[in-house]
Amino acid sequence: MKRIGILTSGGDAPGMNAAIRAVVRTAVYNKVEVFGIKRGYAGLLEGEIEPLNIYSVADIIHRGGTILRSSRSEYFKTEAGQKKAAKTLSDFNIESLIVIGGDGSFKGARALSNRGVNTISIPGTIDNDIGCTDYSIGFDTALNTALDAIGKIRDTTSSHNRVNVVEVMGRDCGEIALFAGLAGGAESILVPEKDYDLDEISDKLLRGKDRGKLHSIIVLAEGVGNFDNFCHKIEEKTGVSTRGTNLGYIQRGGNPTAFDRILASRMGYMAVNLLLDNKTNRVICIKNNVYTDMDTNEALEIKKNFDAEAYKIANILSI
Ligand code: F6P
Repeated sequence: MKRIGILTSGGDAPGMNAAIRAVVRTAVYNKVEVFGIKRGYAGLLEGEIEPLNIYSVADIIHRGGTILRSSRSEYFKTEAGQKKAAKTLSDFNIESLIVIGGDGSFKGARALSNRGVNTISIPGTIDNDIGCTDYSIGFDTALNTALDAIGKIRDTTSSHNRVNVVEVMGRDCGEIALFAGLAGGAESILVPEKDYDLDEISDKLLRGKDRGKLHSIIVLAEGVGNFDNFCHKIEEKTGVSTRGTNLGYIQRGGNPTAFDRILASRMGYMAVNLLLDNKTNRVICIKNNVYTDMDTNEALEIKKNFDAEAYKIANILSI
């Protein structure tokens, strides 16, 4: 193998830097050159490519964001864009590419692999919406950030006997909401995977109030709708003062947790080793605590499994 390129694509996620570090150090250990591609596929199209060495990745394992920066490129999704990207890699003598991102980024990697580039994809997104893996890099950190915020919101919500609707990210997936809600003891959790009944939610809030409960937290996944609308509906139905908080982009930043750093380090290490074994068009996953890899086409076919048991437990515990 001559050279490996590496890029981060889509929404950034804490732990991406730890994965970049692992790729670079594993490659250097194996005497393979590594090139960093800036701004994801958009930077690849512009030839924003530079060599990385062990010093380029010093002091980054604990940092949020991505030193390579990230983007979403519409042009790369076209035939012309993909052809140009493959040519740029070949101009730089880069025959293998490691992509860290979500399933949209995996599709890009697959397109390049169809054009003769050896590709390995690593799941990196706070949404944890990738079906082939139990965890993607960044989810655990985002979850802990959301949980910390819910704790703070609970303090002020209690002081004022209020309801607070906390909106979390996740695109069309309810993973952050479900687990932040379960861990944060939310009264209700609203996720795109499950229908909700406003009357039931309101009755539960009022039952809690009658029992002397000082606060109620509702965790709302962004895929269900906007917190503002929801606050009005709840206040109207219950007559209880209701506030809303959109946690927004704080969920995407911050120092990665130990879990994310370990996940990223192991996946980055595996990615280089798969390339050294002449594997291509593979996605790295962790399933039932086992690290593995699978064909990208197969990986993209797998739908994220909604954890109905966790949802049920959260409901029972918040009775
Ligand atoms: O995929 C990560 C994510 O943060 C989603 O949770 C959110 O819907 C989206 O990205 C926001 O994207 P952008 O950074 O383009 O606003």
